[in-house]
Amino acid sequence: MQLIATYQDGDLAELGARVMDFFEERPDLHSSGASFGGVAATNPDKVSTDISLVWLDRSDSQAHSLSDAIMLAVSRCLKQYLADRRIFLQVCPERSLFVNPIFNLQRYLPGEGFKNWHCDWTTADDATDPIKRVLAWILYCNDVENAGTEFLWQEHHVEAIAGQMAIFPAGMSHVHRGRVSPDCTKVIATGWINVGSLDAYVQGLAALPPRPA
Ligand SMILES: [Fe+2]
Repeated sequence: MQLIATYQDGDLAELGARVMDFFEERPDLHSSGASFGGVAATNPDKVSTDISLVWLDRSDSQAHSLSDAIMLAVSRCLKQYLADRRIFLQVCPERSLFVNPIFNLQRYLPGEGFKNWHCDWTTADDATDPIKRVLAWILYCNDVENAGTEFLWQEHHVEAIAGQMAIFPAGMSHVHRGRVSPDCTKVIATGWINVGSLDAYVQGLAALPPRPA
């Protein structure tokens, strides 16, 4: 599993617990889970309850504080990922990667999940710049037996272990799906790592026309 990496330590375990608490404390931020195919009502590929977090948004101090901790944790794991694979960044366009500051918390009730094989790289036109996704990350926030992420061609299953961070290629080489638990609830935080620089990306976001209300 050369390009599927997992990380575990005390800080990640603490962060996972914090995500669990936040999810329970903030039902006002819950929304029906969406994937690139559409919302759950029209796309049965993904059934979940989500909270979208935007690290740049400082209007909600609790959400911002959690986003800040997630950005730091993913950045730390990314640094390790690249240190262990020196060639990776050398062959990457622009030779630069950054943690996309828009990411999601997702809760899957028993029987729910991102059930279909998919990859995270798409040509969809949205604010996360999906065409520039190089890696995806998932932080599993609770222990759920036999309900992690399975990779088709690698014939590999990453377990949902509280505080375990997985980083893997977003592209078609790493087609994957969530393994569904019939009796347990699973909570994850997840997002992407894009090619380019965070500064340039943020400038690009600022230049986007405002979304209609
Ligand atoms: Fe995915």
